Amino acid sequence: MKKFAVIGDPIAHSLSPMLHQEIYHQLGLDASFEKIHIKPNELHLFTNSNELDGFNVTIPHKQSVIPFLDELDESAKTIGAVNCVHKGKGYNTDWIGFLEAMELNSVDLNGMNCLIIGAGGAARAIAFALIKSNINSISIKNRTLEKADALVQWIKSMSNVSVHTQQQEHFNTQISEHIIINCTPLGMWPETESIPMIIDLIHEKHVLVDTIYNPFETKWLKFGKEKGAKTIDGLDMFIAQGLASADIWFDEKISKKINLETIIKGLKLELC
Ligand SMILES: NC(=O)c1ccc[n+]([C@@H]2O[C@H](COP(=O)([O-])OP(=O)(O)OC[C@H]3O[C@@H](n4cnc5c(N)ncnc54)[C@H](OP(=O)(O)O)[C@@H]3O)[C@@H](O)[C@H]2O)c1
Repeated sequence: MKKFAVIGDPIAHSLSPMLHQEIYHQLGLDASFEKIHIKPNELHLFTNSNELDGFNVTIPHKQSVIPFLDELDESAKTIGAVNCVHKGKGYNTDWIGFLEAMELNSVDLNGMNCLIIGAGGAARAIAFALIKSNINSISIKNRTLEKADALVQWIKSMSNVSVHTQQQEHFNTQISEHIIINCTPLGMWPETESIPMIIDLIHEKHVLVDTIYNPFETKWLKFGKEKGAKTIDGLDMFIAQGLASADIWFDEKISKKINLETIIKGLKLELC
């Protein structure tokens, strides 16, 4: 039997075991998936003594796990974060998950102007995905301006995409971007009343993408929907990053063989 896991701190609420066990069930794979609570000071020992066939990495270890790995694939190296490990090699499947979610929801990124709210690991992975998708421009809005500036510099260092930071005042006039992506935890359970930006300027031509999947429809998305915007929750991205990890671990396109509807239905039942 193959053994897989997700590590993080905290980890109790992770949906990854449910997702992967459903994949194994659907495909009749002899494999198990558990969640393992690893504190930052336990990470080195865990990676040193690991006997799993593969594992996912979540907050707060996505960057700190890197020194303990033998090598990184190209995207993990560029993004500077790892969420999937196989045979000592680190991968980043968050950006793949984002692109799959856009495809699944029929969002064509080509030539679009995008606004990313947040400048952490998810923002970086999504910026990487956007650069790969021939978009027209990226704006970054973040609580800590220095981190927004750092993300802008990083994007400039590897692409010719037009990129800049957005100040709060931007939201007092209009939002010219087509696609707005929330990469902050604002709205995530249990703080479900928070929203990442005022919604008065949202209109029916906007596409709102939330990386949060618990709750699967955040207050921000609910408001956006009421305004007529197209809304995409974080569950599709979550499922797609997990499937991309399974593709790596099993060295075959698992993701093309499973029934997505059943997985989505099962996970939604778990969420509030
Ligand atoms: N659906 C998926 O598959 C998936 C995958 C990865 C991540 N995510 C989600 O993406 C979100 C961000 O994760 P991450 O890994 O990027 O975390 P991270 O690296 O810690 O970054 C968090 C970002 O959110 C901002 N932020 C945090 N609290 C805030 C607050 N109270 N007000 C305003 N801004 C705040 C931070 O701003 P500062 O720079 O000012 O601190 C930072 O830009 C999480 O909700 C996570 O669950 C989803």
